[in-house]
Amino acid sequence: MKIGVILGSIREGRFGQGVADWVMEQIANYDAGDATFELIDLKAFNVPLLEVATVPAAANKQYDDENVTAWSKAIDACDAFIFITAEYNHGVPGAFKNAVDQLAGEWQGKTVAFVSYGAAEGLRSVEQWRQIVANFDMRDIRTQVSFSIFNEAQDGAFAPNERRAGEFTALLDSLLKTARA
Ligand SMILES: Cc1cc2nc3c(=O)[nH]c(=O)nc-3n(C[C@H](O)[C@H](O)[C@H](O)COP(=O)(O)O)c2cc1C
Repeated sequence: MKIGVILGSIREGRFGQGVADWVMEQIANYDAGDATFELIDLKAFNVPLLEVATVPAAANKQYDDENVTAWSKAIDACDAFIFITAEYNHGVPGAFKNAVDQLAGEWQGKTVAFVSYGAAEGLRSVEQWRQIVANFDMRDIRTQVSFSIFNEAQDGAFAPNERRAGEFTALLDSLLKTARA
């Protein structure tokens, strides 16, 4: 089983980089059995804005754009996901939503858990993601880990509360249990 850890911010100097590094460190110390994890950095894919005439759900995973094709293959190869998401204007980040919209069957029925961050821990963003992924019949995990960008950073570096490691272990336990089922 392969779990894709999607870093969804494409901004220069993104806070999400520190969060993703921490997430991958936690995973390295977690006994995941047969599951493997791969960091999927949205920024590396240069996914264009969705302008094509064909609705992705009708594209049968065939795309004209090579960047969308690469993105499709990376997502299709995964059985489940961890979305690492910021919150922009009380909602999901536009570039991340656009990248999700570009695909369809690649997400269908898979399990997803959320790691968020923001001034209000990105909680509103995750609530929106839960509505969005419902359209792909994805199984969203209740347990989430949410960081404050003010209280969990020191001198610009990510500095999570001690209790986050335990919360993230609970997220992984639940994600793998549901994905395996
Ligand atoms: C366009 C924009 C809108 C934002 N709106 C919110 C918001 O509504 N709530 C919040 O908690 N933080 C908001 N922020 C602050 C972000 O939480 C903060 O900039 C964070 O570092 C963004 O994640 P990133 O650096 O990984 O892109 C906003 C940031 C940007 C760039």
